[in-house]
Order: sequence, then structure tokens, then C-alpha cells
Amino acid sequence: MAHMLIVDDERSICELLEISFRKEGHKVEVASSGEAAKRLLASRIFDIVVSDICMPDMDGVELLRYSKEVSPASIFILITGVPTIDTAVSAVNFGADRYVIKGDRLLDELRPAVQQVAERLALKKEAGYLRRELRRLTGLDHMIGTSPKMRAIFELIQNIAPQPSRVLITGESGTGKELVARAIHENSARAKSPFITINCGAFPETLLESELFGYVKGAFTGANENRNGLFHAAHGGTLFMDEIGNMSVTMQVKLYRVLQEGKVRAIGSTEESDVDVRIIAATNKDLAKEIAEGRFREDLYYRLSVIPIHLPPLRERREDIPLLAREFLGRFAKSMTKKIDGIEPEAMRRLEVYDWPGNVRELENTIERAVALESGNRISVDALPERIQKHFQESVPHANHNGNHTCLPQEGLSLEEHIQGLERSYLLAALERSGGVRTQAATLLKMSYRSFRHYAKKYGV
Ligand SMILES: Nc1ncnc2c1ncn2[C@@H]1O[C@H](COP(=O)(O)OP(=O)(O)OP(=O)(O)O)[C@@H](O)[C@H]1O
Ligand SMILES: [Mg+2]
Repeated sequence: MAHMLIVDDERSICELLEISFRKEGHKVEVASSGEAAKRLLASRIFDIVVSDICMPDMDGVELLRYSKEVSPASIFILITGVPTIDTAVSAVNFGADRYVIKGDRLLDELRPAVQQVAERLALKKEAGYLRRELRRLTGLDHMIGTSPKMRAIFELIQNIAPQPSRVLITGESGTGKELVARAIHENSARAKSPFITINCGAFPETLLESELFGYVKGAFTGANENRNGLFHAAHGGTLFMDEIGNMSVTMQVKLYRVLQEGKVRAIGSTEESDVDVRIIAATNKDLAKEIAEGRFREDLYYRLSVIPIHLPPLRERREDIPLLAREFLGRFAKSMTKKIDGIEPEAMRRLEVYDWPGNVRELENTIERAVALESGNRISVDALPERIQKHFQESVPHANHNGNHTCLPQEGLSLEEHIQGLERSYLLAALERSGGVRTQAATLLKMSYRSFRHYAKKYGV
């Protein structure tokens, strides 16, 4: 419903409009003079202003000008008891949205305009709601995913982002660790402050130390001036320490001390300074193993992993593959200005079956390459790299070898998992044979369409 302001020095008109529009569910405020209206307009935002033209203290057209200045999005309707060409013309010139003559039909004339505004507001609200809902269901900022695992991660990010706690992000290479770190920063109160990344694996020990903590002039040869480190640069914001698992043990000790005390000392300095920095660390190593083998300090681990986030590899959330593939396709087609608007079902099935050791990054690169190679208007199997095609041929059984060679591996196998793998690959094979037509695939597998859908959903096919 709309928030309205009625302005008229004639009490009966104010009352009539106030009562009628309130009854219809709108929020109505009233001003009996131009000055009173100005004060209200300055203090809150109205969706609709309905104002008389002739008032003792102010001309309605002047109020219109004021309203367009302070609140240009408000709809302004002028009403008058004495219509003249002059006022009508200046009303229009100053941007009145409507001009209505007082009389028996005043309400009937106003109602549609108010209704229209109210509907537009409702739509706007709905659109905002839908956008938020879509974001909640499909991802966070630039992160995409509808798998339950990723949705749980998006929810976790939203919950923990506003807090100051440290976060440790683990996951294989290319699973989106840096993206998660950025999403946490962007959804926190620190969003307007710096987000600084340092790759701890890329620096030799002494260089890493001076990068992080800074140095004073003369601290070592080559230190010709004072220099602040990244902890200072990130003050008030977030420091993303990538590949923390590659940090030397000596540096780990130094970092631990900083985290413990919340103070940083530049190399060669005797003074310590306070820093307010949120640390987000990431690694693709298995830190438990690193700790067990003496390469990572357990005390630092506990300091860093107040909130651990583990990103599952892409092969454990295959449902996300089509969504990600289409998103990347859209991006690369646009940047390479190519008219490719889809992925052929056979190509998509190969993408879904592949194991993606390089995870989302590998998928991204695969689509980039495919977009560059493809000459048709959809990504075809031929545009995919050989390793992906080969994997498909090896993993999806083709129904023509009907030998009964049951072979139990030496080390045994999980029957349940094996059967699930078989189910999944037959499902894919049937889809392949039927060219993606699900009802036909169901017939091939001698099952009802209903059970086919059940399996398809179960395996995210
Ligand atoms: N959920 C996702 N939605 C969209 N893009 C993603 C998603 N996850 C990862 N990406 C993209 O995949 C690429 C790799 O992500 P990112 O650099 O965050 O991975 P990483 O885990 O930090 O990898 P590494 O361990 O190799 O540094 C980036 O281009 C990123 O934009
Ligand atoms: Mg990374």
C-alpha cells in the first residue's frame, strides 16, 4: 500500500481523502498548509503527494517544485477548485504527474492513480524479494551453486560474515576458496575497508615477514626507508592469507604471536602497534596431516580455524556442473562476442560425468576453450578436450558388452557405492542413447517415467 500526503487548507477535502484512502488500506498523512507540507516532505518519503493549488501561504505549484527537488520519485498530483489554463500549464511544466479538478468526481479521478502507484510498489517489493530469494537459492554474490552442500556453505557465510571471527577455508585447488574469502569480506561490516590477499607460499621466509609486518629504515641491507606491511594496509579490513599450509614453521611461530597479542612489530623496530584485521586463511593441504608430520603448528591451527569452512570438490556436487557451465558459457560468449547460447545435451553429459581434478577452475577453463573453438551456436562434444571425452567412454558402460564378468577387486569393494555408480552410468547411457529425451530413456531402462525421475534426481543427472 502507498504512503500518501494530502495537502489542502480546506478541511473537508482533507477529511474526505484521508478517510477514503485509509479505508482502502493506504497510509495517509495530512497537512493543512504549504509550510506544514514542506516540513513533512523534508522529514520522510511519500509515494504520493496530493496537493491543492490555491492555499493562503503557498501556491501548490511551489510545493510541487519543492517536492520534485527533495523527493523526485514521489508521484505528485495537483487538485484545484478553480481550473485555469495557466495553472494547468505550469503544473505540467513543473512535472506534476496529474492534474485533477475538485468536484463530485474527485475521488473517482484520484483512485486509479493511487491504485497504480500502489501496484507498482507491490511489484517492486516482489521483485526485490524474488531477487533475494533467487540469490539465496542459487548462490552468493559471484558464487554459484544449488547443491545442498553449497547452499549450506552460502548460509554459513551469511551467518558468520558479520562476526569478527577468523575463518579457515580448506578445499582442493580450484574449489573457490578465494571467492569464499571475498564473499565473507563483502558481507561483513568491513566491506568498505581493504581486502588484501597474500599468497604465503609464494615468498621466501624473510620476504614474507617484511611483506606482512613491514620494516624500519636500516633493519637490513636494502631497507632504505620505513615501510608498512600488509597487516597495516589491511587495518580495519580483511587479510586473506592464501596457501597458509606452505608457510615455514618459523613464520608460523611469528604469525601465532601476532594473532595471540593483536600487535604487530615491524622488522627492526622496538615498538608494537595495534592492528584491527580479520584473518581469513586458506589451504589446499590436509592440515591434520601436516600437523601430524610436524610441518604445521597445532597452536596456530587452532588460532586460525575458529570457523572452518570446507569446500567440497566439484565431483561431490555434480548438480552444480550444468549451472556453472552455463554461467561460464554466458561470460565467455559475451567477452569473445560469439553467438553461442547453449550446450548440447551430449556435451553436457560428458561434463557431468567427468571428475574435474581441477574443480571449478578446470570447468571454467574447459568452457573458455570450448567457446573459443566452437563454430556452431551450441557447445558440441567436439569442442571438449580429449581427456573429458575419454573419461566418458571409459566410465559409461555401453550396453553392447553383455558379458557376465563379475570381478571382485582384491581389496573388496563397497557394493552399495558400486551399484549406485552403475545405476548412475546406465541412467546417463540411456539418456545418451535417447538424445536426452527422458521418457525414451525411461523406456530403455524398462522403468516408469516416474521412477526414472526419481533416479535422475537422486544422482543429480
Ligand atoms: N561457486 C562458484 N561459482 C562461480 N565461480 C566459481 C565458483 N567456485 C569457483 N569459481 C571460479 O573458479 C576459479 C577458481 O576459484 P578460486 O580461485 O576461488 O579457487 P581456489 O580454491 O582459491 O583455488 P587454489 O587453491 O588453486 O588457489 C575462479 O575463477 C572462480 O571465480
Ligand atoms: Mg586460491
